[in-house]
Amino acid sequence: MKFTLTIFIGLGLLVAAECHPLGQKEAYEQLMKLLGTPIKPERYSYENYAFSKGYSSYKVTSFNWRSCDTSAPVQATVTLTPDPLVVPGNVTVAFNASVGVDIESKVKLELTVKKKVVVWIDVPCIDNVGSCTYDDVCTLISAGTPCPDPLPKYNIPCHCPLTKGDYILPASEFEIPSSNLPGISGDYQVSAKLSHNGQQLACFDIDASVA
Ligand SMILES: *[C@@H]1O[C@H](CO)[C@@H](O)[C@H](O)[C@H]1NC(C)=O
Ligand SMILES: *[C@@H]1O[C@H](CO)[C@@H](O)[C@H](O)[C@H]1NC(C)=O
Repeated sequence: MKFTLTIFIGLGLLVAAECHPLGQKEAYEQLMKLLGTPIKPERYSYENYAFSKGYSSYKVTSFNWRSCDTSAPVQATVTLTPDPLVVPGNVTVAFNASVGVDIESKVKLELTVKKKVVVWIDVPCIDNVGSCTYDDVCTLISAGTPCPDPLPKYNIPCHCPLTKGDYILPASEFEIPSSNLPGISGDYQVSAKLSHNGQQLACFDIDASVA
């Protein structure tokens, strides 16, 4: 249903572009304006409930991390607090990850990010933020860069290669830098897929809210 609504909005923008005639640039600017609107996480707004229920639109009620491929070699459970996240602010992260294969190079990451602005809207990839595909995440952090604390303390690598094994990060605090993304508040759904030469290494669906 939410996909249907996303398509519906997309068609709406297209129709608006045809009728007005709103150029591609204007349609894009309107989409960005919509996505840049700060939205109170839906768990705090009861007035929208009947409306969203009517459209059986998915509602984020808490941070939620789940595997969408339980037979993939990489599995992880993650907790994040505070929930909703506060940006800028500090975040406490804990994870248990099990890596079933050695990961040496060429790891493709496909991210799909949706923000709820009444309905779920795809966030485009801009300046490497949003629904982006990274052909090789191994090249994102160069091998010489030291891993941020406290990762070294728990023997958690932050660059390739990643050897087979279990990686455990006990609750640890990180600072989220202030973002220059306008109106980041809201509810998000993120899908993250890692693959190597077309073989899926991991697939996660994440729900998160930013206050
Ligand atoms: C995050 O934590 C650090 C260290 O505890 C503190 O100095 C900093 O002020 C905190 N940042 C925010 C935005 O609360
Ligand atoms: C990781 O595993 C330990 C031991 O089973 C458990 O106590 C902890 O809650 C887990 N942490 C996460 C983030 O799943």
